[in-house]
Amino acid sequence: MLNRKFPFTRLRRLRSNSFIRDIVDENKITKDDLIQPIFVKDSDGFDEINNMPGILRYGLDVLIDEISEIYELGIKSVAIFPVIDSSKRNAEGSEAFNEDNLACSAIKLIKKNFPDLIIISDVALDPYTNHGHDGILLNNYVDNDLTVETLIKQALSLAKAGADIIAPSDMMDGRIKSLREALEVNDFKNTIILSYAAKYSSNFYGPFREAVKSSSNLGKSSKSSYQMSSANSDEALHEVAMDINEGADIVMVKPGMPYLDIIYKVKETFKIPTFAYQVSGEYSMLKHAIDNGLLDNRVMLESILCFKRAGADAILTYAAKEISKELKQ
Ligand code: PBG
Repeated sequence: MLNRKFPFTRLRRLRSNSFIRDIVDENKITKDDLIQPIFVKDSDGFDEINNMPGILRYGLDVLIDEISEIYELGIKSVAIFPVIDSSKRNAEGSEAFNEDNLACSAIKLIKKNFPDLIIISDVALDPYTNHGHDGILLNNYVDNDLTVETLIKQALSLAKAGADIIAPSDMMDGRIKSLREALEVNDFKNTIILSYAAKYSSNFYGPFREAVKSSSNLGKSSKSSYQMSSANSDEALHEVAMDINEGADIVMVKPGMPYLDIIYKVKETFKIPTFAYQVSGEYSMLKHAIDNGLLDNRVMLESILCFKRAGADAILTYAAKEISKELKQ
């Protein structure tokens, strides 16, 4: 007897075992989606970062061992963040464009050993300034155009060292056009620009600022005069449109998990390669909860899958290495 009480559509049919679930899944995380940020320091060996469990700063003497592990796991890209000695930081961040600085040395070393690994390098002055801001201060205000002049020099040093992708994370106006122009003129036509286009002034960057030792320099000062207000989403589309027009190849939304709506809107609107950054605070929150037995470690993969579902083509995550070990392929 046909029981007419039940609908013919039973969505649970396609959830009944893992094989059928795998076959019908709309989104999947593969190793191609993962980018590993990595902190490099200018002394030998490694040290731990208090607020970021499991994440280390690597000296150049141990960097290649770590990179080789990442490479063997099948991850195709790393984002390098230098942590330089305070003696090399000044008001103008001039170490940023020293062609032999820590970032450039790390890039050259990695390229020599792993020529096909894609290296992303941030363009911003905060690791190099003694006040912790991403740009140069004039009357206590980050001066846009002055900063862009230095960013150009920084980007050229990074490109010359072999960075495949330069990633301006500074949020100055007009910097994408200026950087693109400088790269073209100096024969770095294939150097890719990944613009941190929709970068919010966020408290989720806290552990990163500890990691690069810029938080005490920054003190109570905020980056809200250049990074975006968390209240805005139309403005994110404006930022992205502007950066695409100025020559960005890839755009990024940052932070990630509290800003999934922005990732979705950007991807839906522009249909261009869109990355997302699961930033230090997001990583640390989840990691601390896992380490304290509050959450299962599968939350990490779940959170990354949600980025993908929202529209991210790739995700920068401190858990890239760990997640890639869990993936089937
Ligand atoms: C520097 C920069 C920051 C991050 C990436 N590049 C910090 C900031 O803007 O203060 C944050 C990354 C993270 O929190 O993981 N311009």
